[in-house]
Amino acid sequence: MSTSAGKTKDKESQESGVRGFIFLFFFLGFFVFLIIGWIVFPGLLYSKKKQPIDFNHALHNELVSDGCESCHYFREDGSFSGAPKLAQCIDCHEEVQGEDPEEAKFVEEYVAKEQEVPWLIYSRQPDCVYFSHAAHVKMAEMECSVCHGPIGESEHLKVYEKNRISGYSRDIWGKNIAGMKKNTWDRMKMDDCSECHVRESVRQESVQTEKGPCFVCHK
Ligand code: HEC
Ligand code: HEC
Ligand code: HEC
Ligand code: HEC
Ligand code: HEC
Repeated sequence: MSTSAGKTKDKESQESGVRGFIFLFFFLGFFVFLIIGWIVFPGLLYSKKKQPIDFNHALHNELVSDGCESCHYFREDGSFSGAPKLAQCIDCHEEVQGEDPEEAKFVEEYVAKEQEVPWLIYSRQPDCVYFSHAAHVKMAEMECSVCHGPIGESEHLKVYEKNRISGYSRDIWGKNIAGMKKNTWDRMKMDDCSECHVRESVRQESVQTEKGPCFVCHK
């Protein structure tokens, strides 16, 4: 009797050991996938590129007379100038004026050689997308930060991240791989544009009848 009772006990502890092992395995696997899914995969999916020159917005906003428009302005025809050209920097940076190595690099490699800086555009949409700053900034009177976040107030330009598969900037698909969004500027996919357009019922008539629902935003 006693030996068979001992055997059952052994078997029980063996079974619970196996169960514990399976449990441990499950959790290990779970965490391995969590790490791959949240850290390794996004790391592999995006290649990182530094801007050619680090630019300090906070510093320059204090120095210019017309605020953002000193560098990002609308042309006579209503089109948006976008990233600034050398012509907008040259009045102040004909020669190096400070100690900052980024300024020295800017003057030596770009101003002196009359080479435009190849800025990387965080918000760049694919070629098939049509976007108009005038419609949003002038007509709808939106703040830049609604779509761009705090870049215009920053002291450094963040690293540009490019999706290796789609070629999109990470600012389009967003940081959060589960797709969660805390700020209006966290992501700028088709759904994000549409969500606001539906909410604002943007030009329902012209959109529906003249161009069709897709060609508001597509060329
Ligand atoms: C002295 C010139 C200057 C002034 C003034 C300036 N910017 Fe810029 N801005 C730049 C340069 C240079 C870049 C770099 C281009 C880039 O990041 O693609 C830039 C980039 C940006 C971008 C990133 C666009 C993108 O998607 O890559 C945003 C947004 C922006 N500026 C907003 C602002 C706002 C808002 C203000 C005013 C509060 C402002 N800027 C004032 C020169 C200026
Ligand atoms: C109104 C004059 C003015 C204009 C316009 C201007 N800058 Fe500057 N910039 C300055 C001054 C002043 C400094 C500070 C120099 C110091 O004391 O280090 C500076 C510093 C810099 C620096 C070093 C600090 C930093 O931002 O990282 C860079 C790079 C720079 N400028 C690039 C640009 C570019 C690119 C443009 C055009 C888009 C531009 N600047 C337009 C006056 C100007
Ligand atoms: C409704 C959203 C929205 C608002 C508001 C907005 N932008 Fe943009 N911005 C975009 C999108 C989208 C792009 C990319 C356009 C493209 O790829 O054709 C862009 C591109 C840019 C670029 C890079 C353009 C280039 O190709 O050189 C700059 C600089 C910029 N915006 C600055 C600003 C500034 C400054 C303001 C405020 C005056 C502003 N934006 C307001 C959505 C917005
Ligand atoms: C937060 C709100 C908001 C977001 C985000 C937004 N839009 Fe808009 N958009 C508007 C409003 C409001 C108008 C109407 C402006 C007007 O004509 O008064 C507009 C107008 C437009 C127009 C002009 C339509 C016409 O009939 O001429 C285009 C094109 C456009 N948006 C494209 C886009 C694209 C592409 C995106 C995403 C990259 C985007 N929008 C994101 C609010 C938004
Ligand atoms: C409110 C603006 C807007 C409207 C309206 C819109 N799109 Fe888009 N679409 C975008 C933007 C922005 C992108 C790029 C970002 C992305 O892939 O989500 C895009 C991307 C796409 C792509 C992927 C293209 C690529 O190169 O990856 C397809 C396909 C597409 N749209 C089809 C449509 C169709 C079909 C309709 C009409 C039912 C439509 N879109 C209406 C803004 C819009």
